[in-house]
Formats: sequence, structure tokens, C-alpha cells
Amino acid sequence: MYPSLRDRRVVITGGARGIGLATARRFLEEESRIAIIDINRELLGEAVKRNPGLHGIIADVGDPAQVERAFREVDSLLGGVDVLIANAGISSRRPFLELSYEEWRKIMRVNLDGAFLCAREAARRMVRQGSGVIMFTASTNGLEGHPFYAHYNASKAGVILLAKTLALELAPQIRVIAVSPGYVLTEMQKAEYTPEMLGKVNSLIPLNRHAKPEEIADLFAFLASDQAKYITGAVITIDGGETAGPYIYRLIDRVEIRR
Ligand SMILES: NC(=O)c1ccc[n+]([C@@H]2O[C@H](COP(=O)([O-])OP(=O)(O)OC[C@H]3O[C@@H](n4cnc5c(N)ncnc54)[C@H](O)[C@@H]3O)[C@@H](O)[C@H]2O)c1
Repeated sequence: MYPSLRDRRVVITGGARGIGLATARRFLEEESRIAIIDINRELLGEAVKRNPGLHGIIADVGDPAQVERAFREVDSLLGGVDVLIANAGISSRRPFLELSYEEWRKIMRVNLDGAFLCAREAARRMVRQGSGVIMFTASTNGLEGHPFYAHYNASKAGVILLAKTLALELAPQIRVIAVSPGYVLTEMQKAEYTPEMLGKVNSLIPLNRHAKPEEIADLFAFLASDQAKYITGAVITIDGGETAGPYIYRLIDRVEIRR
């Protein structure tokens, strides 16, 4: 538990399921005041119903007018924002040569434009009050190339540099951090990987498993708290060792590696 999170006004985008919902639930445990923004009305309704205390706001983070409206709703529900977790994101698996401009734009619009639009709304409020924490869900895909994800990788690399730049511009009042999860077992992941692929991925991750959404939520809670008050401009990787070294070493005789 982090006493500094009590009554903090926390906004989480993509909060109706997966990492976002686990994070909203984690902040509920901290007795923060939370609004989740999501595009999916049905999922949002369910999340709010099952988690008393959560406020739900319907909006598409890729639409500037909807984001402005959503943050005005945050103002009337919470009276401002102390912590933003810009987490909403989408993905698709597509060989580069088959990647249409429309699919490229679709991913960029949500993952990168959405991060920009929400961060700008939150930052304007935080600058007025002289404090705040902005965090982004980036990805290890923003750190290294992963085949068939050119659009997604580029969007997450963009999010990382957005975070670092804001950390410089908004210091010292506002801390800005990018969190880069590796493989997390959520609906997004299950939609793109067969059980066989998931098993193969697990065998290549040094800790031999996907992360649980709750483990990413724990990291967000720590980073938002005063315990992390010297952390800004950082990219915090939480990936079970995925990016500790090239995959090739894990494909060579594993006994050899574990010697
Ligand atoms: N699952 C992973 O392995 C993994 C790894 C690294 C990073 N991430 C990132 O974590 C974030 C959350 O992913 P997840 O796995 O929990 O996915 P998820 O699909 O389970 O949840 C994403 C949520 O975002 C919402 N959303 C989608 N488009 C939106 C939009 N335009 N406006 C508002 N809300 C929207 C969805 O309705 C959903 O509730 C994403 O940014 C993703 O890129 C996921």
C-alpha cells in the first residue's frame, strides 16, 4: 500500500479490460479516485458494475473532440487529474508488405495520437495545479524490432520518445514515465497468438511465462506513488527478461546457458 495514493485523482485510458482494468482495480485498493476512459461501452459498463467506485467515461482516445469532452467529464467527476495512465492501445499482426496505409493509420491514431491527446489534456491541468504524474503503456515492441508489427512497433517507439520529451518539458512539477511490458496475458494477446504460439513464447522468456496484468498494475501504483518521486523520463521495462539479451542465445542449447 502507498499512503500517498489515497484520494489521488487517477485517469486510466483503455481501463475497461486487460492491463487498464487491473490497474484501475489496483488504484481502488489504494483508495484513489478513478475514472476509466474506454471506447467499448459494453466492457466499460461491466467494469463499472463489477468494481464499485470506478467512474466510466466513453470516448475514443484517437478523436481530439472526444478526448476534450472526456477530460471535461473528468473535471466534473473528480475535479482534476493527479495521475494519467495513457494505456489504451490496439494491435494487429501483419507482414510489412501487406500493411495498408489504413491499417498503419488505425494503429497510429489510437496508440500514438491517443497518447498525445490524453497527455496534453492531463498536462494542461497538472501544470495549473503544479503537480502530477503522466505514465504511458509503451511496450518492449517500442524498444526492439518484432517482425509483422512494423506499425505497432513504430507507435510504441513514438510513445517512448513522447514520454522522455514531456519529462524534460514538464519537470520539475510533473513526472513522466513510459512503462514497457513484455508479453502480458490479456485478450489482446490471446487474439493474436494460438495456444501453441503462447507456449513457444513462454519457453523463450527467461522467466518462462507471460506477465499477469496485475503485475503491470503493481508497477504503475509504485511509479505513481511518492516512493517513486525521483523517477522521471525513464522507460521502465517489465518483461521477465525478454529484452535482457538477443533471442538467439535462448535458441542455442538451453542447458549450456543455464550452466
Ligand atoms: N498484452 C500485452 O502483451 C501487451 C504488451 C505490451 C504492451 N501492451 C499495451 O498495453 C495496453 C493495454 O493492452 P491490453 O493487453 O490490456 O489490451 P486489451 O485489448 O485487453 O485492452 C485494451 C483496452 O483499450 C480499449 N481501447 C481500444 N481502443 C480504444 C480507443 N480508441 N479509445 C479508448 N479505448 C480504447 C479497449 O476497449 C480495451 O478495453 C496497450 O497499449 C497495449 O499496446 C500490451
